[in-house]
Formats: sequence, structure tokens, C-alpha cells
Amino acid sequence: MHKQAAIGVFDSGLGGISVLHDIRRLLPSESLIYIADSAHVPYGEKSTEFIIERSLAISEFLLAQPVKAIVVACNTATAAAVTELRQRWPQVLFVGMEPAVKPAVLASQNGKIGVLATTGTLRSARFAALLERFAAHVEVMTQPCPGLVELIESGELQSRVTRELLTRYVEPLLRAGCDTLILGCTHYPLVKPLLRSIIPEHVQLIDTGEAVARRLHSELGKQGLLADAQQPIDHFYGSGNVQKTEQTLALLWPTPAPVSALGF
Ligand code: DGL
Repeated sequence: MHKQAAIGVFDSGLGGISVLHDIRRLLPSESLIYIADSAHVPYGEKSTEFIIERSLAISEFLLAQPVKAIVVACNTATAAAVTELRQRWPQVLFVGMEPAVKPAVLASQNGKIGVLATTGTLRSARFAALLERFAAHVEVMTQPCPGLVELIESGELQSRVTRELLTRYVEPLLRAGCDTLILGCTHYPLVKPLLRSIIPEHVQLIDTGEAVARRLHSELGKQGLLADAQQPIDHFYGSGNVQKTEQTLALLWPTPAPVSALGF
């Protein structure tokens, strides 16, 4: 594999753009290929089998480009499919992501932690194992957020409807006294400014994007695969309505980015 090959990144939709920002910041010389599986968003309400099937198909496409690593920029897809991906392609570097339970436990003052994530992530065996490993001695309250991903996908990052839905989801956690909230879905950091305006100042928000970018940097470094002295080229693909994806992407990514149809 050549070090100038791109890094592949995928999500059910545009949530992974929150992670792409961290990757670009920490690895500015890398070319990126991003896939939004928008025809099938939200993954959070889909079966594990379906998410595995999509993750395998998308990874196959990315590996054919070729890419030198794949970031599963989706907590739900990581929980459902990263084991299968690593089994299918043991030689490929897959970086997955999961709710930042360990950092939240370290950051919380009162040991009350709220987790906002998809239904799929919260019911997964991986999440149960994560809680058992790092959060046995604290109080963790979980909150699935149906409907939120769809609003973010349609670019409603500041709307009244999004505010109302977010308020409904965080209120029980705040009432229970949580001083730390984990954003356990890559879509949610995209509405961080709105969320910040709803919650009290002392409540901390924790997400995983930067940790993922750091891990990617370190793994590529170990393998001698960090790109250098290159003008990075970004490509975006979508499986759904490409115009709609482009419109929302324009709100999330600093440079104009055409979206190509994925075709499967
Ligand atoms: N962005 C994804 C995550 O991190 C999935 C959201 C969805 O499609 O339900 O979990």
C-alpha cells in the first residue's frame, strides 16, 4: 500500500463529517474519501445483519479505490459490524468508534453520566461490555434519540424542531443530575452549538472524534503510511439523494464539495 493513498471514512449519512474535521485537523496532508450511506440513514433503527451487509459493501468499494485505512465514523456501525470487517480483511486497518465512556468517567465530578446515542448502539453487546469495563462504579443513564439524525441530515442544525427534540432528550438526564453527557453518535456533535445553548454551563459534552483521529495518526505512523508533501484531494459519495446530501454537506464542510452517486 502506498502512503499517498487516501483514507476511507464512512457513516450512515453525514454524521461522520464531525470526525472528518478532526482527521483533517490532525492529518492535514491526507486525502480523504467519504461515504454517506444516506439511502439507508438512520442505521440506529436497522437490524445488525443489515448494517453488517452495508458496511461490508461500502468497505469493499473503498478498498477498490484503493484506501490505506478505513474509519468507521459511526458508533452504530462499529457496534454492529467492525468485528466482521476485521475478520473479512485482517490485513486492513479499521478504526472504529464507540461512546467515550472512559473519558467521561474521568471527567465527571459527581459520577452521574448521560449517554446520548442511537437505539442500535445502546442495545449492543459492545456498549454493555464498555459499561462493564469502565463504568461499573458510576451511575450511567442512557437516552436513545430517534428522529434527531433525520433532522441533522436535512440540515436543521439550529431549527426550533431540533431544539425541542434535543430538549426533550436531555431534560431527563439533567433532571437526574448528570454533569457529563456523552455524544455517542457522530451526528450529535454537529448540533453541539444548539445543545450548548440548552444545557447549563457546568455540564460537559464529550465526543470521540479527536481520539479517533489520534488513533488513526498513530497507527498510520507505525506502519510508515503517513502521507507527506501532498495537496490532499477529497472525494465525497452518497447512496441517497445526492443533491440533498450536497446541500447539507455545504453547511458542514468548509470547501465546496460535489457528491458523487455511490451506485449501490
Ligand atoms: N452517525 C451514526 C452513529 O454514530 C449513526 C446514526 C444513525 O444512522 O442512526 O451512531
